[in-house]
Amino acid sequence: MEVDRKAFIADLGGEAKVASMDSEAKADALEEFMMQHLNETGGGAAGKYPTMAEVEAQIETRRHRRGVGNLFLSHSGNVKRLPPMPAKPTLADFFKQRFKVTSTHVLQSANLAMKNGMSEEIILACLLHDTAQELIKVDHGWWSAQLYEPYVPERVAFAIRYHQALRFYEDKAVGYEYPDLYRVLFGEDYKPEPYIEAAHQMVRNHKWYMDARMVTVNDLYSFEPGVNPQLEQFTDIIGRHFKQPKEGLGFDNSPVAHIWRSIASPDRPL
Ligand SMILES: [Fe+2]
Ligand SMILES: [Fe+2]
Repeated sequence: MEVDRKAFIADLGGEAKVASMDSEAKADALEEFMMQHLNETGGGAAGKYPTMAEVEAQIETRRHRRGVGNLFLSHSGNVKRLPPMPAKPTLADFFKQRFKVTSTHVLQSANLAMKNGMSEEIILACLLHDTAQELIKVDHGWWSAQLYEPYVPERVAFAIRYHQALRFYEDKAVGYEYPDLYRVLFGEDYKPEPYIEAAHQMVRNHKWYMDARMVTVNDLYSFEPGVNPQLEQFTDIIGRHFKQPKEGLGFDNSPVAHIWRSIASPDRPL
């Protein structure tokens, strides 16, 4: 993929700003820029994607691992103090106060699912599908599903969990093609690991295949400028399908309460 150097530098805030960035920050900014501008540039047609070996060679050029959650890392400057959470936090509180990096993407995906006439379960799955990336990116489908499992219908958790495996496999009958983004992120010669392939095979033959598939179909692979759906658009769907615990998320003694607390309080030292 060819990067427009001028646009990239302008995006970062100009030459002086770029000069003040260390190589790690530049590498991250470049990756982010490529992700955001993928659709406009036409991806691989214009140039070359990294190989898996090239992606791996970047590991030791960073001070953090790529799977670190968004809340735990700032790509430019120090992290900011987070606003305190209410005593009994709701899903909406987490969206507004903690899902800072993932919320636009998941709201845009849920908005697209709604426009495409998907079921409420699929819209909800789209709304929640990537939010555990605030905590950890590695295996984010499994983490996100676990986070929501006690509070949503089983098929919603299923769709969230398995979108992660299905996104690597095409289903042209419903309009899903392998996204260029993964050629950038994983390398052009990437083959999914055996556990991903096994999950894909299982889901293909499952009665809820289309639920998980529709999360991938309505997943947006680049930021859509000017489209900013608000959470309020989904208040009724959340009310009907999300069992908000009266004690607040993190304080209901559920098996995942500690995960919510970790997202609420990422500055706790231990
Ligand atoms: Fe995802
Ligand atoms: Fe996504």
